[in-house]
Amino acid sequence: MYSVLCIDDAEEQLQAITLQLIDTYHVIPCQKPFHAITNITKHKPDAVILDLQMPKINGFQVLEEINRLPNPPPVLIISGYTDPLFVVRSLHLGAQDFLSKPYTSTMLRHRLTKIIQRSLASKTTNKQIPQEPLLIGESPAIQTLKVEIQTFANSDLPILIYGESGTGKDLVAKLIHELSNRNKGPFIVRNIGAIPSSLIESELFGCDEGAFTDAKAHKGCFELANGGTLFLDEIAEASHSAQASLLRVIEDGCIQHLGGHTIHEVSFRLISATNKNLDQLISEKQFRSDLKYRLEGITLHIPPLRDRKTDIPALTHHFLAPHQADITQDALSKLYDFDWPGNIRQLRMCLERARILAGSSPIQPEHIRY
Ligand SMILES: Nc1ncnc2c1ncn2[C@@H]1O[C@H](COP(=O)(O)OP(=O)(O)OP(=O)(O)O)[C@@H](O)[C@H]1O
Ligand SMILES: [Mg+2]
Repeated sequence: MYSVLCIDDAEEQLQAITLQLIDTYHVIPCQKPFHAITNITKHKPDAVILDLQMPKINGFQVLEEINRLPNPPPVLIISGYTDPLFVVRSLHLGAQDFLSKPYTSTMLRHRLTKIIQRSLASKTTNKQIPQEPLLIGESPAIQTLKVEIQTFANSDLPILIYGESGTGKDLVAKLIHELSNRNKGPFIVRNIGAIPSSLIESELFGCDEGAFTDAKAHKGCFELANGGTLFLDEIAEASHSAQASLLRVIEDGCIQHLGGHTIHEVSFRLISATNKNLDQLISEKQFRSDLKYRLEGITLHIPPLRDRKTDIPALTHHFLAPHQADITQDALSKLYDFDWPGNIRQLRMCLERARILAGSSPIQPEHIRY
């Protein structure tokens, strides 16, 4: 018997659908759309029926969240809206079918069986496509960021990402790489701040055997990133000499190993990131303005979590879903009361702690410790 999760926050509607299906399907009612993702991860239904018109939550939002899951179940939308725009938007957001009210129970069963069979057939023929990292959030700032990422991923312009610690700079850099036509190539990450100044040149350019005492031949990060993307994190930490070297490679597109004579041509897409104000560093003569102009072909700003608290529920569900953990509304409200100086990373750790403290029951406010 196929299982179907029915999401509708109106009890009588939910009962009506359940009655129509109960003899042929195992029906899992879900009256709290907010718990949809947790229920899907827990019960792994063969399909989902989702009502678009729910007073407290936007059905489109639930649909989007479902389709962000690694293996989303097929979704049948039920709606009183007949406007084609709603149908188009539903299908665009990943719904398999759209049933307008009023409908008969025969129609409902027929359409449901069809989407389940189609989904099962595609599962057996399609191999798993590797998932790109998920950038969760529907706040206007994140929506803009997603559009910018989509727009610029395929160009080769360098990208400079600004964002406080834990806002997702690494994640965004990886996503750009995955969405670019360099995604078959390597994605090389170097944290400039973590490389000792004595090693920076050999890290960037590589070196030939014996270039300096005990030097072993190795490739530098530009060469390793050849054909792919190089992500230089904490770029503001680059010393003056490292800045000069970086500028040279970006301008020439060529590198020379330390102790070597051959010039190697390299093709990479450069993404850099910082949580510092580069203009201020420039005015303090700590950072070269000509390097900044080279790095910022495109500038992306990831706002801190305190400026986009509406993303907290989606992020919370995203982090809890793999553990099938649940959270109460009160605990979720408590997450809103904090400013998250460590941003998403701090939220993630806090939820990790809360989940362990809560054991198998839903996370309560007392489990949230900042
Ligand atoms: N929008 C998001 N959706 C889902 N996960 C996110 C999002 N933003 C950040 N994360 C997660 O939060 C954590 C911190 O993100 P990340 O390491 O990319 O931040 P960062 O800005 O590079 O931090 P730092 O400045 O400390 O290097 C990671 O586990 C990342 O996957
Ligand atoms: Mg980082």
